[in-house]
Amino acid sequence: MKASIRRWLALAACGLSLPLSAAEISRIEIDSTQPGPRIHRDIYGQFAEHLGRGIYEGIWVGEDSEIENIRGFRTDVIEALREIKVPLVRWPGGCFADEYRWRDGIGPRDQRPVRVNTHWGGVPEDNAFGTHEFFELVELLGAEAYVNGNLGTGTPREMAEWLEYMTGDSNSAVVEERRKNGRDKPWKVTYFGVGNEAWGCGGNMRPEYYADLYNHYATFLKSPHGTRPKLVASGGTDVRTDWTEVLSANIRDAGGISHHFYTLPTGNWNDKGEATGFGEDMWISTLWQTLRMDEFIRKNKKVLDKNDPEKKLDFYVDEWGTWYNPEKGREPGFLYQQNTLRDALVAALNFNIFHDHADRVTMTNIAQMVNVLQAMILTEGEQMVLTPTYHTFGMYKVFQDATALPLEIENPLSYSHGDVIVPAISASAARGKNGRLYLSLVNLNPDSAQQVAVRVKGEEVKEAEGQLLTANQMDAHNTFAKPQAIKPAGYRAKANTGSLTLEVPAKSVLVVALN
Ligand code: AHR
Repeated sequence: MKASIRRWLALAACGLSLPLSAAEISRIEIDSTQPGPRIHRDIYGQFAEHLGRGIYEGIWVGEDSEIENIRGFRTDVIEALREIKVPLVRWPGGCFADEYRWRDGIGPRDQRPVRVNTHWGGVPEDNAFGTHEFFELVELLGAEAYVNGNLGTGTPREMAEWLEYMTGDSNSAVVEERRKNGRDKPWKVTYFGVGNEAWGCGGNMRPEYYADLYNHYATFLKSPHGTRPKLVASGGTDVRTDWTEVLSANIRDAGGISHHFYTLPTGNWNDKGEATGFGEDMWISTLWQTLRMDEFIRKNKKVLDKNDPEKKLDFYVDEWGTWYNPEKGREPGFLYQQNTLRDALVAALNFNIFHDHADRVTMTNIAQMVNVLQAMILTEGEQMVLTPTYHTFGMYKVFQDATALPLEIENPLSYSHGDVIVPAISASAARGKNGRLYLSLVNLNPDSAQQVAVRVKGEEVKEAEGQLLTANQMDAHNTFAKPQAIKPAGYRAKANTGSLTLEVPAKSVLVVALN
């Protein structure tokens, strides 16, 4: 894209903001008298695919492993994920889903067939982690299940029987098979995906063709009364709205349409940019790319508002996050990448955008949970490290099921580098489930701290108290040798003569309760 166009787009996105000068203070007003939509906890969902060391080693090590485990699930990873309250896990893919045969992953593990994971590294897939293991994982996490069906290479019968296997309560042969495999009670499937990326790895289809297939497959997806999952129709990507246009006009019975958008620092799939060791040009372009999520959601919501004014369809961003060049010396198909302070800001910016669109965006999944793309956790054998993205999820958990509140940045300031301009501050406010008022602030500027004066309409605030994530380097990250190099610190600020001004350090994420 031409530099001048990028600059114009960035300006438009931040509403013609003013360049930041040292003396200026951002002024934010939160209106606590006008509650907005619920910020559905599933916005904080995660994605775990059969990809690289995402499941095998990252989550599942098997009961006989020397790595400490709970019935085969690594204890350290489960405990860490429980801390951030993962509400939802999507599985088994991704691209993997459209080649997955669910019957391979049930029954005695030593009798499960070995296949080749053709999408991700061409490695053997021994199916040790299957349907029963997935539900045990979500039960250990206290999360809900999002299962993605195979439309690309599976039949309607296979898909229907998988749903029956999971949710059936009859004495049919399929349900009895589940009982024989050790699970008497049906599981709860909260979302069921009817294929994945049908425009690409899911079958290279046109939206019209997929819409027909969706209706065909969905017709046979049956569960006992009151237990049918929300069906997810696989939608478009990036700036595209044609999938939302065709699907919202033609599909029946869906809970929502999914959309995928990955942040690439360069915007170029052939040379995406590096995970670490980048300069300020790649810092700002990554944040700029991330902010485009707002435009993509807005455009698709406009289509939905036209075709679905009663808001029967939600908009799910069921894959998002950073995607960098493969780390040197590692299998490129495993999508393993380091995760820095920049990723923490990417996550926070996405959350602030999702909160703004909480009327339609009710579920999203970061890609992915462990060892793949923008991960919460990295592992190496028995070692584990929490990433800056993990910490953003931890800090933002107060927003799960909160009520969004309108917020205005009265004098939007900007930060620029080269020919790219982005807003200097991104903010979001909500009333938590516990009744407290929460505010998140992201300072995109890597060099200057910002003063933010906060007012709340209808309330007097005397104090802000919460957690701050920042570091000296833009690419600060945790390693197995230095696992605590970047982590949140406590934060407190008091009002002075009736007004509350928060100092938000350069390149930081701040989440506070306002008292
Ligand atoms: O998350 C990695 C891959 O990205 C998923 O398998 C696919 O859906 C997307 O292209």
